[in-house]
Amino acid sequence: KIYPVVLSGGAGTRLWPISRSKYPKQFLKIGQDESLFQECLERLRACDFLEQAIIVSNEDHRFIISQQAEEINYPLQDILLEPLAKNTAAAIAAAVAHVETLDPNAKIIILPSDHYIQDAPLFAETVSRASQYADTDNIICFGITPTFPSTGYGYLKKGPLFKDRREVNTVDSFIEKPNQETAETFMETNDYLWNSGMFLFSISTFTKEIEKYAPETLSLCKESVKQATVDLDFIRLDSAPYEKLSSISIDYAVMEKTSNILLIEGRFEWSDVGTYGSFMNKVAHKDINNNFRVGDIFSERTSESIIYSERQIVNTLGVKDLIIVSTEDVLLVADRAEEQKVGQMINAMSDTK
Ligand code: GDD
Ligand code: MG
Repeated sequence: KIYPVVLSGGAGTRLWPISRSKYPKQFLKIGQDESLFQECLERLRACDFLEQAIIVSNEDHRFIISQQAEEINYPLQDILLEPLAKNTAAAIAAAVAHVETLDPNAKIIILPSDHYIQDAPLFAETVSRASQYADTDNIICFGITPTFPSTGYGYLKKGPLFKDRREVNTVDSFIEKPNQETAETFMETNDYLWNSGMFLFSISTFTKEIEKYAPETLSLCKESVKQATVDLDFIRLDSAPYEKLSSISIDYAVMEKTSNILLIEGRFEWSDVGTYGSFMNKVAHKDINNNFRVGDIFSERTSESIIYSERQIVNTLGVKDLIIVSTEDVLLVADRAEEQKVGQMINAMSDTK
């Protein structure tokens, strides 16, 4: 059995103020009928070899999750609620510990809730192919051909073919969020792929790896699953052990350290929709001056800009490379070159999130 685990605890801070901690980007329906979260469930539904999805999220979003799943008639397996966000190593370890109670021999595919993947059949075919390697004691990653030197992604350095199988490679190294200079050198060869953030593994493989590199994360997560309380559709992880967890992503905690990784190329169109550039590329059309505009926007001699307004009329004149976002209560003006840093800025003023 393969259980899909959908991570939905991030706040999408680089898309602030459109994406707010109370209503993060994966649940927004800007310019479309379904949210990224719903699209993710639709893709999983198209994979008929998977079990029903398990969601890992938090208290604030529990009703949005059940309501959005219901809207599209997707029966969720379980909704795990974290007492506080401790990043993806903890969220994944908790999900693994939970699935182990359902079926210790299961395999798991970890999926971010906030990705854009258009080709559901190709996605299904790729996941199905990947699942055939889950018994090799490797964590399987899905690599995406990079299109620019992003500093917001992890990179997989492609190694030799795995046992001469044409479709799967070993991985020489995993580099999480390199700096600009390093990312640029990665683009000079065809050896590096973006890590899409989806991981497929058997429970036993993951357990072995995390026991090696982050044993405390696993034991604390097991404890909080053991002490969890079940309330209607929600499984609340116990907070005492969870509070003790260190906050670290799976990429730094395990993926950069282990050598047991296999790589399958995802040939579907993929985007993390993490920044204003990628988000607007999905929800809006570029105008002739390469601006993305949503709302009542009047622009003259304006180019390469992202302008989004929920209520106000926004006028721009003679500007270039700007991000301008106006919501009910916030106005953001930023240089497009700073788009990766919007999250850091708002974390620094966290009380207004
Ligand atoms: N439940 C839960 N709890 N989910 C979380 C938490 C948490 O504490 N933190 C993050 N998530 C969810 C996010 O909502 C998102 O769906 C997913 O986990 C990945 O977290 P991000 O914070 O978006 O990670 P990232 O984009 O910086 O980096 C990861 O994804 C990239 C591709 O999108 C890494 O895996 C990179 O290597 C990868 O390239
Ligand atoms: Mg992300």
